[in-house]
Amino acid sequence: NQNSLQLEPKASDSFTSTGFILAAIGSSVGLGNMWKFPYITGMYGGAAFFLIFILCLALVGLPILLAEMVIGRGGRGNAVSSFHNLSKTKWWGYFGFLSVLSAFAIMGFYAVVAGWTMNYAFTSLTGNLFENPDYTASFLSFAGGNMPIFWTIITLIITCWVVAKGVAGGIEKFNKVLIPGLAVILVILMIRALTLPGAGEGVEFFLMPDFSKLTAESALVALGHAFFSLSLGMGAMLTYGAYTSKKQSLGKAAAAVAGGDLLYAFVAGLIIFPTVFSYGIAPGQGPGLAFMALPAAFAAMPLGNLFGFLFFFLLSIAALTSTVSLVEVPNAYLMERFKWSRAKSATIVTLIIFAISIPASMSMGILSDNLLFGKTFFDLLDFVASNIFLPIGGLVVTLFTGYAWKRAGEEAGLSGFWYNAWMFCLKYIAPIMVIVIFLYSIGIIKF
Ligand code: PFF
Repeated sequence: NQNSLQLEPKASDSFTSTGFILAAIGSSVGLGNMWKFPYITGMYGGAAFFLIFILCLALVGLPILLAEMVIGRGGRGNAVSSFHNLSKTKWWGYFGFLSVLSAFAIMGFYAVVAGWTMNYAFTSLTGNLFENPDYTASFLSFAGGNMPIFWTIITLIITCWVVAKGVAGGIEKFNKVLIPGLAVILVILMIRALTLPGAGEGVEFFLMPDFSKLTAESALVALGHAFFSLSLGMGAMLTYGAYTSKKQSLGKAAAAVAGGDLLYAFVAGLIIFPTVFSYGIAPGQGPGLAFMALPAAFAAMPLGNLFGFLFFFLLSIAALTSTVSLVEVPNAYLMERFKWSRAKSATIVTLIIFAISIPASMSMGILSDNLLFGKTFFDLLDFVASNIFLPIGGLVVTLFTGYAWKRAGEEAGLSGFWYNAWMFCLKYIAPIMVIVIFLYSIGIIKF
């Protein structure tokens, strides 16, 4: 109903304006920035890839990010009910329900990887990590064992506790402490990495533009990553947007979040590549880069225990501020749908995620040969969420804001040039690009 939509949320259910920006940066900065961005940049053309990534962020990521925030604040509901509140047909909301499913799927594997980073932080500090210098073998035996389940539980308990404490008293407080803390650790590690002997070579590998590696595939990887990195297509930014005040400028907030996300990713690259190059470790290790290549560098470095701990602790924090936003999506939905208390809803969501994360974790070990559609359960969760649900979710947001809901510009506080530019991206550029990545990632088009 229109009147209640104008209301501001209760103070305990709303963010302050800095709190909102920090929480949204917390959602976007995660394992995507610290672990995935550096290795895909190294693989797909260094600075050339980086430029394409910036373009994708600006032309597709930022417009959708703003659209999600605006739908959340305009509809003042969750990933499903915000659409219901703003539109006469129920269809948009049914698609919004996919976001709730994506959150479970993403959390199912993301919580496992977050758990790995905690284990690595802990064992760097105690020195156990450095006992067996075959880091590839020790990673594989660790990930295939039972220990990750213990760390997944720790990740889920912390996340559930923060979400249960509420928007102002939990999510905002958590991000207000951790996001600035993350920046401090990042700067310490960057200085350490850039002053290692031979660091320049790593910087060169990371940033030397190699336009010959720039293929259609690398552009699609950049676009897909811009999406995941900004936490788009699954209602996280929409859900957070519902907790902001009408006074907040969402355009500025969206720009700050996209800029922050880019900066954290860039600095992560300036830490990882100089470190591996300085110790003569091959950088082309893909996903294993952080867990298999870096420990060797920390082992060789003076005070390596401490730097190793700081690095993996940084990854854990970045992951936790993202898991909080992932859990808040189904949490907000179930609270409203079934009139559950926040604590009850958060606990139920956490238990469901825990049940999904056990087979995900075991996919690295005893379930590694149990394939569904040719993928392990872990990879299947990632594939279905990142390549199918997120693009559909993103498409729903662009089409709804670009074509169906006429008051988006008013809610965003945009008019004139910026409004037209935003609408142009939402109506034409973003949907076409999203459809192309979708068709590519499910194998319908090939390059
Ligand atoms: N943006 C996070 C990252 O880059 O690690 C991942 C993520 C968090 C995706 C929250 C989606 C989401 F809703």
